[in-house]
Amino acid sequence: MIFHQVATERGCQSYFIACEDSCTAVVIDPEDSQVDRYLGLAAQEGVSIHYVLDTHTHADHFSGTTELARKLNVPIIMHRNSQAPFVDMRVDDGEKINLGKLSLNIMHTPGHTDDSISVHVEDRVFTGDTLLIGGCGRTDLPSGDPDQLYDSLFNKLLRLAPETLVYPAHIYSRRESSSIAEEAAENPRLQLKERGEFVTQMRKLTLREPDHLSEALRTNLSGGKTVEQLIAEAAHNVSFMSLEEVLRRIQSDDPGIVLLDVREKDAYEQAHIPGAMVIPRGQLELCVNERLPDPTRRIVVYCEFGRISTLATATLKEMGFTRAIALDKGMQLWMEKGYPVE
Ligand SMILES: [Fe+2]
Repeated sequence: MIFHQVATERGCQSYFIACEDSCTAVVIDPEDSQVDRYLGLAAQEGVSIHYVLDTHTHADHFSGTTELARKLNVPIIMHRNSQAPFVDMRVDDGEKINLGKLSLNIMHTPGHTDDSISVHVEDRVFTGDTLLIGGCGRTDLPSGDPDQLYDSLFNKLLRLAPETLVYPAHIYSRRESSSIAEEAAENPRLQLKERGEFVTQMRKLTLREPDHLSEALRTNLSGGKTVEQLIAEAAHNVSFMSLEEVLRRIQSDDPGIVLLDVREKDAYEQAHIPGAMVIPRGQLELCVNERLPDPTRRIVVYCEFGRISTLATATLKEMGFTRAIALDKGMQLWMEKGYPVE
């Protein structure tokens, strides 16, 4: 088995698993920021990714499943309870997916969410957020159920061979894995072995709502894009001009650029870069014909922080303003630097 564990700063774990004989791979719980990494691993190992699998609907980070599957045209695997419309293979307890000589054995382990699965492959089990190292998934988010979690933990996962390695979807320590035996003995949440006590313990937890909960659920359930993805895609097709270069140009006799402020009019009226014109982002498409009749001009677009201007520049380029450029950063930094304003 070829095996790579990919961890991100926030402790999210994804797993790249491949069969050496058939050169086929699966990525479990891909994260959107790591899509190029998985493609790089496939190239490095000389294998091709045949499946992407989410252990459950993630509420706390952005899944890379749809982006990876779209790029590779491969099926997405999730439990049949998943509400996401983009799932190609809806699996259930007791089924297996063949990956060359490897078998991905699906265990339905609801409780953290009702679509949670664990995937048992040879000597290891990928437990999603059902069983964590020294913890277990919370049950207070949509479709969570502590009663179901009790069964998934005590009547399914803890019944695997004690030496089975445990690879969860999140690790909040320096560890890379654990084992069923270790979790059974040391995991504080698993020490209350009686159902009622376990359920009460889970109901009593008061946990902070994850950051970006609504955005994560919206994008992970629909396959839609995050704001960061939209901006990253726009930035991919856009070039930038630094604040210093713009300053040098407006101080010269012939700047050779048109400065376009896409913030709201009141922000523009308070302070803007000398010589800039204003078309608020919301009016851009409808106003360009009148306000920017010459599409060959070199237009430098700016906003407050440099995010909206990136989207606006991409729009202008799509509309035929081939020389539109975004300002790298925005008005806030321009002012902090004490550069001139009007
Ligand atoms: Fe989760």
